[in-house]
Amino acid sequence: MSTIQILGTGSALPEQIRTNGDIEKLVDTSDAWIQERTGIKDRRIADGAAGESVASLAAKAAARALENAGKHPEEVDLILVATCSPEYLLPCCACQVQAEIGAKKAVAFDLNAACSGFLFGLQTAYCYLQSGIYKNALIIGSEVLSKLVDWEDRGTCILFGDGAGAVYVETVEENGRVWSMVQGSNGAKGMILSCKERDLTTPTPDLFIRMNGQEVYKFATRQVPLCIEEALQQANLTVENIDLFLLHQANVRILESIAHRLKVSMEKIPKNLETRGNMSSAAIPVLLDECNRAGKLHRGDTIVLSGFGAGLTYGACIMTW
Ligand code: UT7
Repeated sequence: MSTIQILGTGSALPEQIRTNGDIEKLVDTSDAWIQERTGIKDRRIADGAAGESVASLAAKAAARALENAGKHPEEVDLILVATCSPEYLLPCCACQVQAEIGAKKAVAFDLNAACSGFLFGLQTAYCYLQSGIYKNALIIGSEVLSKLVDWEDRGTCILFGDGAGAVYVETVEENGRVWSMVQGSNGAKGMILSCKERDLTTPTPDLFIRMNGQEVYKFATRQVPLCIEEALQQANLTVENIDLFLLHQANVRILESIAHRLKVSMEKIPKNLETRGNMSSAAIPVLLDECNRAGKLHRGDTIVLSGFGAGLTYGACIMTW
């Protein structure tokens, strides 16, 4: 039976680095507090004047994923962009990427599941590919959250960063394997992490990200291990069978708590949040690309991808690299 396999990865980050020291100048915080409570030292921030946008970063990451897979843009069937910070409501970012990279025959659309967006995109692509509708797909997570962050709110502005990551997946007859995919949403808790759309009827609209950090923290440390355990159970695997856990990069303490609950060594949980911050839907594909290019992923490895985010949403996927 055919399945899907990731054949190429790519990522793109803005040039500009914003350190914790830079943020000390904006709000009442300290480099020591941020590092101790989050593990983050600096993050990349897009410069719109230099042409860095959700669409341009997404297109760069996509082109790199295709190059990595040895594929031509005109071969691409489907482009999915997961983003919660697009420049345009219309046209969607995926269509902008299509035009930019010259993927003329592709069908392109966006989806928004916040930080779980890439995982939800992967599952959507999997369904299309498994059903035979398309043979391949580019799945991209791209965010410029810096424009949605309130740089006067120390509870959120320390966390987020900008960037894009992409994978190229294809239907394969052998070697690849998707062991299991789990998704979940809890809309009833949605307002603990929110950002309002522009509303011209409201005189003083609050357009920034608002978050109850402790509630999100509790949700993540409880839900992510549960969801990974469910995915393992569905696949009839145990944590010992997993070579790497590529998890949403939000807070190093969340990663450590997940490791503790699953009884997994932190050595199996790569991280890049020290220098990337939380890039929402881009976090997992950027981490994947960095691990791929650093030679940390080997064909045949069994990997877990898992994340959580606004919605609330969460997901886990177990696949063969
Ligand atoms: O993709 C999903 C995105 N969101 C997340 O993953 C967020 C998950 N939550 C978190 O990562 C953590 O809750 C935060 C990093 C946001 C906050 O860390 P915390 O350990 O939960 O801190 P806290 O909110 O319990 O605040 C502890 C103290 C408070 O002071 P008092 O009341 O104890 O005097 C805060 O006012 O730290 C204070 N505080 C800060 N101090 C310095 C809160 N933010 C800051 C700050 N710098 N940036």
